[in-house]
Amino acid sequence: MLRILVCVSGGGTNLQAIIDGIANGTITNTEIVRVISNNKKAYALERAKNAGIDAACVSPKDYADREQFNEAFLQAVTEAEPDLIVLAGFLVVIPEKMIKAYPNQIINIHPSLIPSFCGTGYYGLKVHEGALERGVKVTGATVHFVDEGTDTGPIILQKAVAVEEGDTPEILQKRVMEQAEWQIMPRAIDLIANGKVSVKNGKVWLSE
Ligand code: GAR
Repeated sequence: MLRILVCVSGGGTNLQAIIDGIANGTITNTEIVRVISNNKKAYALERAKNAGIDAACVSPKDYADREQFNEAFLQAVTEAEPDLIVLAGFLVVIPEKMIKAYPNQIINIHPSLIPSFCGTGYYGLKVHEGALERGVKVTGATVHFVDEGTDTGPIILQKAVAVEEGDTPEILQKRVMEQAEWQIMPRAIDLIANGKVSVKNGKVWLSE
């Protein structure tokens, strides 16, 4: 059984896709051991509680400085003894110490086709605003391993989604979630849980 810990900040629709995927067998060999939010008000925490999953909030607001928050966050992660940490809309920069402690054991979902519209400043709706401003005809989502950079780690899965005339950032965000994120995140976890993902020379190799 792959023990996964899911980090969230907001609505938690990707968390819900993982919970549903485990329940309906799309994701096999996997259990969610804990959900951590940096935001007390995140609806994702409700989703975790409704599914009977251990849920904790570790908020920077409760600590004197970033270092103390990072320590508390890392402790809340390690005590759950996860095999894989899943960033599902987690808007906190992962401490370097944690990245070193979990090499190729942290994955993130990003709502664009990396390397477009990613890196510092590109998160949530801002990604879709950027895509619409540039006028791209195709966007999508990416699941990747987390390394020391921002959205620079080895890419596991990507899925393209069409941009349509009249799209607003909100409409495009919803289409990218429905057609890409909620599919490739569960798929990536299932592949990892079944030993089908390896990283060589900074690139991911999948065996089916
Ligand atoms: C998702 O669109 C996810 O791809 C994005 O935040 C949203 C969270 O939604 N993540 C990033 O932008 C990371 N850079 P959710 O809470 O409903 O899953």
